[in-house]
Amino acid sequence: MYYPEELVEEVRTRNDIVDVISGYVKLQKKGSNYFGLCPFHNEKSPSFSVSPQKQMYYCFGCGAGGNTITFVMEYENFTFPEALKLLADRAGVRLPEVEYSKEEREKADKRSELLKINKAAANYFYYQLHQPQGKYGYAYFKKRELTEETIRRFGLGYANKTSSDLYQYLRSKGYRDEILRDSGLVTVEERGTHDKFWNRVMFPIMDVNSRVVGFGGRVLGDGEPKYLNSPETLVFDKSRNLYGLNYARISREKYMLVCEGYMDVIALHQAGFSNTVASLGTALTTQHAILLKRYTEQVILTYDSDGAGEKAALRAIPILKEVGISTKVLNMKPYKDPDEFIKNLGAEAFRQRIHEAQNSFLYEIDVLKKNYQLEDPEQKTRFYHEVAKKLLEFEEELERDNYIQAVAREYRIPYENLRRLVNRLGTMPGVASKAVNRQVESKREVERKKEKDDGNLRAQRLLLTWLIERPELYDRIQGILTAEDFVEPLYHRAAELVFAGYQQNKVNPAEILNHFINDEEQYREVAALFHARLEDSLNNEEQKKAFSDIVYRVKKNSLDHASQKATDISELQRIIQEQAALKMLSVAME
Ligand code: UTP
Ligand code: MN
Repeated sequence: MYYPEELVEEVRTRNDIVDVISGYVKLQKKGSNYFGLCPFHNEKSPSFSVSPQKQMYYCFGCGAGGNTITFVMEYENFTFPEALKLLADRAGVRLPEVEYSKEEREKADKRSELLKINKAAANYFYYQLHQPQGKYGYAYFKKRELTEETIRRFGLGYANKTSSDLYQYLRSKGYRDEILRDSGLVTVEERGTHDKFWNRVMFPIMDVNSRVVGFGGRVLGDGEPKYLNSPETLVFDKSRNLYGLNYARISREKYMLVCEGYMDVIALHQAGFSNTVASLGTALTTQHAILLKRYTEQVILTYDSDGAGEKAALRAIPILKEVGISTKVLNMKPYKDPDEFIKNLGAEAFRQRIHEAQNSFLYEIDVLKKNYQLEDPEQKTRFYHEVAKKLLEFEEELERDNYIQAVAREYRIPYENLRRLVNRLGTMPGVASKAVNRQVESKREVERKKEKDDGNLRAQRLLLTWLIERPELYDRIQGILTAEDFVEPLYHRAAELVFAGYQQNKVNPAEILNHFINDEEQYREVAALFHARLEDSLNNEEQKKAFSDIVYRVKKNSLDHASQKATDISELQRIIQEQAALKMLSVAME
């Protein structure tokens, strides 16, 4: 859907940013800005700032930043049209009817209808649990020591013994067979239509916004299958959903606990660990990991202490590492899972285990060790070789050495011997490391190039920030730089908008940001531009010098680019002249 710029701007300006954010975050005025605890990462002291002048927010801790619209998008996990709608309603602005294509329209309608059905079903199950016919379900939860508060918080319920009462109920609310079948709540057979879940205690599965997207149902005693889960539907994608994340994401802990099942999540939340999630009925996927990375940098795996749990942990560690999450593994022994552990030893003992959780690499080595009989010298040697090979996976020398030390300590291998073994394997042909070495080499090259590029990017970024913060500098670059000299496409667009703003004597950061709102990465970066802190530590002279250095660098990079792209001689000559002039200029500016 395309909304005219003026309309987006109207919606934005009619919602004061301090008003809007105050509805979500407690803000305190400090100087001309407001500060609070950042809702996008966990912190104890406020680094989240809101500027009424700029109508923007920025977190100096995690770099989240934007205007009123992006705030709602991020906080509510809304798309742009959804956020715009919320703000328009809030300010009483009427949005034109959305013109979706027929298919989009139908799909959106169907999604919202499925969510309504799920919600109705969850309410129904919850109600049944508290009725006479639900007493076995209720007794089951009580036996598992869940409080009424926990039952309410997780919306737990009960599916009756009668095999189609939910179906009847939903029909009576006006839902057609076809959509009910697509909800996964009923099964259509020749003999008739039945509820999928019956005589089970019910666990609604909620998305990050606490909308019910599916269900798990557990048998009351023993029986197969133990848990029956909703099939994937238009609103339920198992590989992108984490049970408990709707609460865990606002838990304000630095790390997240990842466990296996419904009851583990619930037991841990009840014991005070609301930073717990589980991937349900499926192994942890990359999409799960990406989702987690939005909220945390560190995961503690609390999988079952059996073979399956171990296997699951070994699979999850590299997936988490891939997205930049560091992982530890919690030792649950002698208990099977967190639920059992908490019941037997309590929350404090569990907290202690969190404290002692093992680094994931050392955990992997521990598991590896089980394959060898270390009393046998030959097997012991083989084990050491395997360990050394695994150590080679660390490309960064310092990191590798830290791990060599840790492993040496843990397994009582003389440090020097292990280090030499690692180095020797690292240079030996045939060992996996050769490929690794080559990779490392080409990676270094890439990194060197990247560093240079980064430098140029940083210069463009910094220059933009300065120009925004200090209008007087705009006059100083007249005749030297134009928006064209910002070669990075994103900065180029931002520069055009900033320069145009100065020509009309009004630079409006929050408005400029609207131009980037369709791309989360981009608006984050542009938002950061408007909030970067300038080096206050520099004195006047140093600032002047730094400024001219940066102008020089941006111009030089721009000319270098142009000369690479130049196609005819006269153009090249012009560039060369400009390059020469730039050298003179840099002398003159100092
Ligand atoms: P577990 O068998 O460890 O169950 O399966 P649990 O969580 O400890 O459950 P309780 O304590 O016996 O009630 C772990 C998770 O695997 C999925 C469920 O998500 C479960 O929570 N699972 C298990 C299924 O989807 N179906 C099954 O039949 C069993
Ligand atoms: Mn379990």
